[in-house]
Amino acid sequence: MKLTIYGGRRLFGDLTVDGAKNAALPLLAATLLTDDDISLQNIPDVGDVRTMIQILEHLGKRVESAHSRESYLIRTVEPPLSSAPEHLVRRLRASFCLLGPLVARTGLAQISLPGGCPIGVRPVDLHLKGLRALGAQIESLGNLFQAQTHKLHPAEIYLDFPSVGATEQIMMTAALIPGRTVISNAAQDPEVHDLARLLIKMGAGIMIEPGRLIIEGAPRLQGTSHRVIPDRITAGTFLIAGAIAGGDVTVHCQPLHLEALMSKLDELGFEIQEHVESIRIVSEGPGSYNGGRVEARPYPGFATDLQPQMMALLALARGTTTIKETVWENRFSQAAELAQMGAQIRIDGSTATIEGVEYLRGTEVRGSDTRAGAALVLAGLAAQGLTTVLDSEEHIARGYADLPGELNRLGADIIVEEEEKASEEKEVVGGRG
Ligand code: EPZ
Repeated sequence: MKLTIYGGRRLFGDLTVDGAKNAALPLLAATLLTDDDISLQNIPDVGDVRTMIQILEHLGKRVESAHSRESYLIRTVEPPLSSAPEHLVRRLRASFCLLGPLVARTGLAQISLPGGCPIGVRPVDLHLKGLRALGAQIESLGNLFQAQTHKLHPAEIYLDFPSVGATEQIMMTAALIPGRTVISNAAQDPEVHDLARLLIKMGAGIMIEPGRLIIEGAPRLQGTSHRVIPDRITAGTFLIAGAIAGGDVTVHCQPLHLEALMSKLDELGFEIQEHVESIRIVSEGPGSYNGGRVEARPYPGFATDLQPQMMALLALARGTTTIKETVWENRFSQAAELAQMGAQIRIDGSTATIEGVEYLRGTEVRGSDTRAGAALVLAGLAAQGLTTVLDSEEHIARGYADLPGELNRLGADIIVEEEEKASEEKEVVGGRG
């Protein structure tokens, strides 16, 4: 995939974000906990969700589109198998959360080490610590993990880091274990709480306390219906797009999930209006706002998945900015690409120092993960001339249903084309032509 952005166009209008990818993925995994039908609404049409659906269908589920594009009915056509196809599992990180539900249902599960974005080593030790505490024997067979058990039992588990995936994996597994399981230092992300709400509807008891989850598991879980929360990272990406390009953009979302971003954008000097189900940003574009300090931390801290987009924004601020990334150890890949465009960024371990510049120059850059790719598109909106973002692995489409199309609907000028056919044909997504 290759995106060509004609810079300098302001954005005006409003858009409604899809369901949250990072909620939809564990919710889909949780359907393995029962053979009853489960209806999920507001599922985003993104690459990672399509892959998870393919995995479920290999594991004995049939996923039927219901009355609207984003609604699915997940049915069981045969008892769950105990292993998922490696070529699919390796495509996304969230697939590792299948291990717990499968071992809880079948007593045996094999899942390969997951893939996903190259933003860090992405260990799974906390997942395994939790599953072992619940009574699963874990073996590493090459790049496969095998979990086996005769009987799982409740446990008290402390997470050394509030890992989103490990919290979700342990919570889902414990939901099918009669008795009380406690997860301390649990992740508190809205996506984790959305999963808790589904599990409660399925018959588990879950109490959410600050930094703690208490799960009263049940011997059997039943079918239900659930609507996925809006995607706060997509919403944040579009708000930052409005900030960097300049204009007046309203995003229909769940403002409660974006308090850290709204506070930061306000502090930088943008006009932010919070409404019940939307956030509006008014911006004069590059050079109209100040630099500052951003620290990406576990929720409710500033979202790490919005850190690359903020780096692009702050490359054009007045003055100096420091960005500290405390969640992932390798999430500054966008810095080198932004520097190609003229950004002044110095990396020192987990801290990036940015000296704001007057303008960025359009050039050819490469996105190495979903959010870095999105950040480079946003930089292209404000850059002088043409910016080409090469996205051969289609990372952007794994996390966004139609980032270029939505931006074009707000007034951007982005052309999307297949990389190998760049010379022959262009698929115009709105914009020029
Ligand atoms: C989820 O990843 C999200 N992905 C990520 O979004 C997000 O960046 C991350 O949470 C943090 O908010 C999905 O939900 C599918 P973690 P996850 O376990 O669960 C360490 C995107 O762009 N860790 O909270 O994999 C880990 O190395 C993606 O949408 C362990 O040490 O993240 C990292 O430093 C990117 N051992 C930190 O915890 C473990 O067993 C956060 O990881 C697990 C994690």
